[in-house]
Amino acid sequence: MPAPEEPTTDVPGPAASGRRVSRKTVLRAAAALGAAPLLIGAPVALAREQPAPGGAGLAPTPECHDGDGPTVEQMEGPYFKPDSPLRNSLITSGTPGTRLTVGGYVFGRGCRPVPGVLLDFWQADDNGAYDNSGYGFRGHQFSTAQGAFSLTTIVPGLYPGRTRHLHVKLQAPGRRVVTTQLYFPGEPRNGTDGLFDSRLLMNLRQAGPGLEATFDFVLDVPQDPTTPPTTPPPTAPPTGTWTPGRAYRAGDGAAYAGLAYRCLQAHTAAVGWEPPNVPALWRRL
Ligand SMILES: [Fe+2]
Repeated sequence: MPAPEEPTTDVPGPAASGRRVSRKTVLRAAAALGAAPLLIGAPVALAREQPAPGGAGLAPTPECHDGDGPTVEQMEGPYFKPDSPLRNSLITSGTPGTRLTVGGYVFGRGCRPVPGVLLDFWQADDNGAYDNSGYGFRGHQFSTAQGAFSLTTIVPGLYPGRTRHLHVKLQAPGRRVVTTQLYFPGEPRNGTDGLFDSRLLMNLRQAGPGLEATFDFVLDVPQDPTTPPTTPPPTAPPTGTWTPGRAYRAGDGAAYAGLAYRCLQAHTAAVGWEPPNVPALWRRL
């Protein structure tokens, strides 16, 4: 039986924070320029590796040098349940709570994105309660070919003894499971929660009526910089209309609503997992 999570005191609301200049900032900028896929082929260009004004830049190295080691691990807590559903949205239009999206990338030790990482999230609802009888606010997904993940949820409610947090387990293909928690900046309970770790703070900003958070994970996955990374499957032409019940392999193509998609993760298609609805499984070509 896992030990209960530690006690603390009272109640804040999450506050937006400034964004740190880090690996994620660089990646966001690259993604905005449409350059994210290029990151597969090379170590991520970190801010400190950029040429200094009037001087030569530092030589890129195979290790992450923006201060991040592998993501800090934390206790699972008492509320994890296996066999969560495959989904990257934990809410419906009627779900109460402040909307929250969490996005980011999963990196290996060579600062390259790691595709196909299983990310299993679970959290409390708006009232600070976990669903221990069903799978509310529980869901797993896989990082994309670019190592990205995206979670649509609500800001978890507070419950006695803890500051505000999300739980997540990560497993890169063929590697061990890493368990940790993510935290919200500006929470008064952060100062009194014995489990809180500032290295697990998300970047958080207001996005309309909701909040948008980012966090990048680093897993202890070896990535030899002299070995070309795995080439993603070639763009496959549609091989037919997307069909529920059909088994798709990574790299397979399918057409849906007149648009072409490529399968990112092997799975059996099901109603509700139409390509535009499950970015963890399908990428539009
Ligand atoms: Fe918890």
